[in-house]
Amino acid sequence: MIDRDGDPWAAAWGAAAAATAATIVRERLAVRTPAAAIVLGSGLGDVVSRLQHVREMPYQEIPGFSATAVEGHAGRLYAGTLGGREVIALGGRFHMYEGHTARASAFPVRVVHALGARVLFASNAAGGLERSLNAGDLVLLDDHINLTGHNPLFGSVEPGDVRFPDMSAAHSPRLRALVRTAAAELGIALKPGVYVGLTGPVYETPSEVRMLAGLGATVTGMSTVCEAIVAAALGMEFVAVSLVTNPAAGLSDGPVRHEDVMMEAGLASKRFGDLLESFVKKL
Ligand code: HPA
Repeated sequence: MIDRDGDPWAAAWGAAAAATAATIVRERLAVRTPAAAIVLGSGLGDVVSRLQHVREMPYQEIPGFSATAVEGHAGRLYAGTLGGREVIALGGRFHMYEGHTARASAFPVRVVHALGARVLFASNAAGGLERSLNAGDLVLLDDHINLTGHNPLFGSVEPGDVRFPDMSAAHSPRLRALVRTAAAELGIALKPGVYVGLTGPVYETPSEVRMLAGLGATVTGMSTVCEAIVAAALGMEFVAVSLVTNPAAGLSDGPVRHEDVMMEAGLASKRFGDLLESFVKKL
């Protein structure tokens, strides 16, 4: 039996810590209730240039956050308006491959929830597991498979959390419909797919890529699943879009390289920003 007071999971990155962090962020950035919180994936940080009335603070100044070191991640939290709607944007993640626990990697979701966000839009860079997917394709996630071997809800139940969250509609049908409508109106091609989350930091082997495709996944990456799980536990509506930055290992002649991932994300960021802005206006 776990004594909550002696529970090593209880103290850090839970509801109380999120409330503390949210108080500091709210005061510093004069945050009003956001229509949505947005997680900006690798190389997709350009979207912040679309924000108006932007206020920002570095992650180091938010209790429970640490500086992100991965290239392509700003490590800053932004408040502002996008398409006239109040949003919070998280420029950077805490990945498990950096050594963060699943619980820590999903902590920003708790903080944006404590700031009043009830809609979470996550983006990520991912490898395409099907030959029909090309670099630059946007994939709207229907669902995910958590193959990290971890779960951000390990430990005692946080106040406000559900112990056994239902994941049958973790990727909100309502929000997915809004993203599809936004894409159709803008003439942006959007494919449906299933994301499989692994810890990384290695890219997959060709054998793993065949296995993941066989399991029913469409794209593979090193983030997002912990965020979707905490969003479900908190009763937030969640939606995610993957940018395919490369064919997964073995599906093209060359190696999978972080530079190429970043370059493709940069090329797609205008399209992604258009989609995101149109989506937010529909909320
Ligand atoms: N595999 C895992 N994560 C990724 C990939 C990939 O091929 N591309 C971008 N993120």
